[in-house]
Amino acid sequence: MSIEKELRIMHACEMGAVGVYRGHKCVARYFFRKNLAELDNMRFHEKDHAAIFSSLLKERNARLCLGHQLFFLGGLIYGVAVGFLGLRAIGTSTYTIERIVDEEFDIALPKFYREKTISDKIRAVQLEEKEHRDSGLELAGEQYFLSGFVETIAKTGAYTAKFLASSL
Ligand SMILES: [Fe+2]
Ligand SMILES: [Fe+2]
Repeated sequence: MSIEKELRIMHACEMGAVGVYRGHKCVARYFFRKNLAELDNMRFHEKDHAAIFSSLLKERNARLCLGHQLFFLGGLIYGVAVGFLGLRAIGTSTYTIERIVDEEFDIALPKFYREKTISDKIRAVQLEEKEHRDSGLELAGEQYFLSGFVETIAKTGAYTAKFLASSL
């Protein structure tokens, strides 16, 4: 897979993540005001991540993933739906997705061994994803009756986004 394609997938998935946290934030504004700032902070990080990957693609004169705005929309719908399942569901979804993101960056990083600037940027992004994963774990608390269900939909969502991004 080319460097450009890797970056394109990362960009589209970050757009999805912006949507997810935006969706969580919409629900939190009404039901979980105490956690609004925390969720909004994650959304802000994701926006930054998407901007990093889109500018790397631009620098290389490479295109973005087709329909990348739809990743935002898909993420948004998913994020609102999970939000309605409650704050612990938001936490469960967050740690599940961010764990996958962290693994995917670990898998992708060696492919960038010749591109020091890009790998440094990816590592910085990855640090924030690890923070998100840990906040998610904290929000989720101990396993509860919805944990398995939310983990399954979060996993499906994350891998579907990756699959779509690599085909578009
Ligand atoms: Fe991100
Ligand atoms: Fe994240």
